[in-house]
Amino acid sequence: MGKVKIGIIGGTGMDDPDILEERQEKHVSTPYGEPSDALVLGKIAGVECVLVPRHGRKHTVLPTDINYRANIDALKQEGCTHVVVTTACGSLKEQYKPGDLVFPDQFIDRTTKRISTFYDGKEGSPAGICHIPMHDPYCSHTRKILIEVAKELKLSHHSSGTNVVIEGPRFSSKAESKMFQMWGGDIINMTAVPEVVLANEAGLCYAAIAMVTDYDCWRDDHEPVSVESVMAIFKSNVAHVKKLLLTVIPRIASKEWADITKERQAAVTSNIVKH
Ligand code: ADE
Repeated sequence: MGKVKIGIIGGTGMDDPDILEERQEKHVSTPYGEPSDALVLGKIAGVECVLVPRHGRKHTVLPTDINYRANIDALKQEGCTHVVVTTACGSLKEQYKPGDLVFPDQFIDRTTKRISTFYDGKEGSPAGICHIPMHDPYCSHTRKILIEVAKELKLSHHSSGTNVVIEGPRFSSKAESKMFQMWGGDIINMTAVPEVVLANEAGLCYAAIAMVTDYDCWRDDHEPVSVESVMAIFKSNVAHVKKLLLTVIPRIASKEWADITKERQAAVTSNIVKH
């Protein structure tokens, strides 16, 4: 069986290195600069994992300023085959309730200030221009395992969802929030893009565990989102995310991925235009 190594990008409050056994810190640098913090190498149920706290261990990195390229490149350089990430998100639909988990399958990109490709023509970057297909951004095979395990653990979850990704750090206006609903958005966060795009360019299987923390600001019968409400909800539900991760990681490792990984690599190489 091909070796599986799993990168974990931990979102706000869900980046506790304690989930890893045999922990070891590693400071790395990439052609794109430094990742958000030192990597933590370790194991979950015997499976090799590499953790990156998305906003840094002290939560000092703004969504706009996260070095998404360095985070993904560092995981790739460490030999990861998969990236499973956690994130808090707002809800744009009544049925996506605070505390629920969502395994998004689509995104709508509303970011404006981020570099979303490794193929930027600079020295040290890979040659050519990469038009990476994005019709199916999240790895459906990894999502299937997340859904299967969430069912087994009886966690309140949604097996799909369209994530609207905003630039932040501000939350949305009410008019924006209502517009995103009309566009078909189910949830909203500030970090999925360009993370998922770059993971695709790196040929990695990428899936997200999003925890609904609020109803954003579209509901007239609810308080609008605030940092306080986000923190309170995820503190009381973070144990679900940990439990899910601890069960999902060995399940991913028990599957054969060689053909899927090859397909992902081919999707990258066949879409590079060289001069
Ligand atoms: N993260 C958590 N809740 C959010 C919201 N309502 N908008 C954007 N990002 C979020």
